[in-house]
Amino acid sequence: MSDNIRTTLEGGVLTVTLDRPDKKNAITQAMYAALSEAMERARADDAVRAVLLRAEGDSFSAGNDIGDFIAIGSQTEQPFDMAVFRYLKALAELDKPLIAAVKGRAVGIGLTMLLHCDLVVVADDALLSVPFVNLALAPEAASSLLLPAAIGHQRAFELFALGEAIDGRTALAWGLANRAVPTDQVETTAAELASRIAARAPNSIRKTKRLMRDAEALWALMQREGEAFGSQMKSPEAMEAFMAFTQKRAPDFSKAG
Ligand code: COA
Repeated sequence: MSDNIRTTLEGGVLTVTLDRPDKKNAITQAMYAALSEAMERARADDAVRAVLLRAEGDSFSAGNDIGDFIAIGSQTEQPFDMAVFRYLKALAELDKPLIAAVKGRAVGIGLTMLLHCDLVVVADDALLSVPFVNLALAPEAASSLLLPAAIGHQRAFELFALGEAIDGRTALAWGLANRAVPTDQVETTAAELASRIAARAPNSIRKTKRLMRDAEALWALMQREGEAFGSQMKSPEAMEAFMAFTQKRAPDFSKAG
């Protein structure tokens, strides 16, 4: 278990906390492994009726740790060996309700994991983005299907291709969230929804969720996306983008072939 992921079980709700606030909860491979364990436990443990995903600090998550991208991009390791894929599979297969409490930034997988949540509470002024293009990457977590399905092709393409953020109110209006509330009400609103769901008939809820999602098809798509993501991650244009981030400068794609 990573020190940056904490879990507690109370009243049937497994609360999973991203706890790396100094790095805006950017997710490392160790954190993905711990998140995978939490989701796998949630699925197997009858005491867990609902899962609440939340984060410490002012941001939900700045997405994948870019230092990890650099390390993995320069290795020969196959992308599917990365802990992130264990987490994505666990998300696709989770058949218990997943609720998210989102404040501040939700970037990259910080947003795409919300597409696997059943109830999403965002702060009015949260900022959600999928700027894979800024890092010369490609969509993941079945977001190439789930994002356009949720908000329509043109909006989804704009989010992917321009990499700009939408706020919490827009996320609500576009169907990415159930509630947009002031920041100081996000945690209580999400926790209250999680408790209410946890009190419902568990097998009825599980069967409802299973009927609404095709876990096998989602996992198959995640693997197809992983091929595009993995080859981009090792590309010169992505390496230029990762180095630009660490050097706090704009990337230069003018020489990309
Ligand atoms: N990976 C690794 N470190 C990250 C990170 C990431 N994805 N996102 C933020 N951090 C680190 C920053 O490097 C900084 O570290 P430092 O204090 O050691 O310099 C710290 O977290 C705080 O981030 P900072 O950029 O100073 O905060 P901000 O409020 O100005 O901006 C973000 C917040 C999220 C907008 C900005 O950090 C960002 O754009 N991060 C990258 C997001 C991204 O592209 N993720 C991958 C998507 S595929």
